[in-house]
Amino acid sequence: MHDVLRVTGGTPLNGEITVRGAKNFVSKAMVAALLGESSSVLRNVPLIRDVDVVADLLRLHGVGVEYDEEGGTLTFDTSNVDSAHVRDIDALAGSSRIPILFCGPLLHRLGEAFIPDLGGCHIGDRPIDFHLQILRDFGAVVDKTATGIHITAPRGLHGTKATLPYPSVGATEQTLLTAVRAEGVTELSNAATEPEILDLIAVLQKMGAIISVDTDRTIRVEGVDRLTGFEHTSLADRIEAASWASAALATGGDIFVRGAEQPSMMTFLNVYRKVGGEFDITDEGIRFYHPGNELRPIVLETDVHPGFMTDWQQPMVVALTQANGLSIIHETVYENRFGFTEALRRMGAQIQVHRECLGGLPCRFGQRNFYHSAVVSGPTPLNAADIVVPDLRGGFSHLIAALTAEGTSRVRGIALINRGYEHFMRKLGALGAQVELED
Ligand code: EPZ
Repeated sequence: MHDVLRVTGGTPLNGEITVRGAKNFVSKAMVAALLGESSSVLRNVPLIRDVDVVADLLRLHGVGVEYDEEGGTLTFDTSNVDSAHVRDIDALAGSSRIPILFCGPLLHRLGEAFIPDLGGCHIGDRPIDFHLQILRDFGAVVDKTATGIHITAPRGLHGTKATLPYPSVGATEQTLLTAVRAEGVTELSNAATEPEILDLIAVLQKMGAIISVDTDRTIRVEGVDRLTGFEHTSLADRIEAASWASAALATGGDIFVRGAEQPSMMTFLNVYRKVGGEFDITDEGIRFYHPGNELRPIVLETDVHPGFMTDWQQPMVVALTQANGLSIIHETVYENRFGFTEALRRMGAQIQVHRECLGGLPCRFGQRNFYHSAVVSGPTPLNAADIVVPDLRGGFSHLIAALTAEGTSRVRGIALINRGYEHFMRKLGALGAQVELED
């Protein structure tokens, strides 16, 4: 694919687009299919790169994976699960973070797992220490090699009692995908409870698992001997929906996001309203629009669910460059998620980043040299610029900035955006954006 997009901004984005299933759920449900002894069906699956990567990894382990793009339906045949060659797995190294979640299912099905070096966005160190500790707690033996991690379970996997140092989404999913077939009971405290995790629990329950979630972030799992396949329709991608909503706000536009769902977006909707954006919720989706009034500044902290998602932060910051006054944002999930503001500053935005915690939430990054708070002063007109996509959400935010700016910007590295935004070029066209791929 061509990798440089010319974006001529200054025109409001108006029209309708559709969001399908959540990237951060679909990829995990695909891993869950590996645990089933009969075939599974997953619906509302978007055509994005992360889905391709997980499908390829499943195929390497003998799973038959078919995708019907129009219906967004994935089917999985798990009757011939087998070990993959390390060399083949290695070819997928660096392309995603999902492979780490194959540990539990592969240990249950094959007795061992090899996990290649992980990929994913560079928005912080993104260690996997919680994952490896929990696997050891289950009784796994973890052997780190130069190219990846080799994991075995010579004495089987046994239920465990553990507390996460932080409610990590991935480590909670690791625990679920391992505990469902471990022998005995597992209790995980300080677990993450994002809607995508609850949807994964729904899938596992359909497969035969016994899982309960308490209001105090404790998840209990009673291991079972076997799991069957499942049929499930994914919840909508609330990160993609919020990205288009922020694009409507920043460009002064009006976008109907078909498929967007209110329950998983309530915190975002509150912030959108406080900033001055308006929305109409229907059974089919949510219309997000700029009512034409001045936008208001806001004080915002990102947090685990039910807080304001870190993945909503970057597109919202672009909209806040158009609000009248000082906005303060405290990023408490990732230590390094303001790198994308450097390009916005070059485009004329007034954004300062600080090491201090500019917020009331207890945060792991204070006094540790991480620029994890930002002050945005607006409104500032944005000018066109040459920009390089730094990561998935940062890249989409750069696109929004280019669409807001007067003049023609060049956005380099746009292929990365395919990792999480289905048909984004087609959608930009449908919204009247003036964009053109460079030869
Ligand atoms: C998931 O990442 C999502 N990715 C991220 O979406 C999302 O930003 C994040 O959850 C938070 O909601 C997928 O679902 C594929 P974490 P994950 O474990 O599971 C620290 C996007 O753009 N940590 O909840 O990797 C970690 O460094 C992406 O769609 C450890 O210290 O996130 C971070 O500071 C980007 N040790 C915090 O916990 C560990 O072993 C939260 O990370 C694991 C995590």
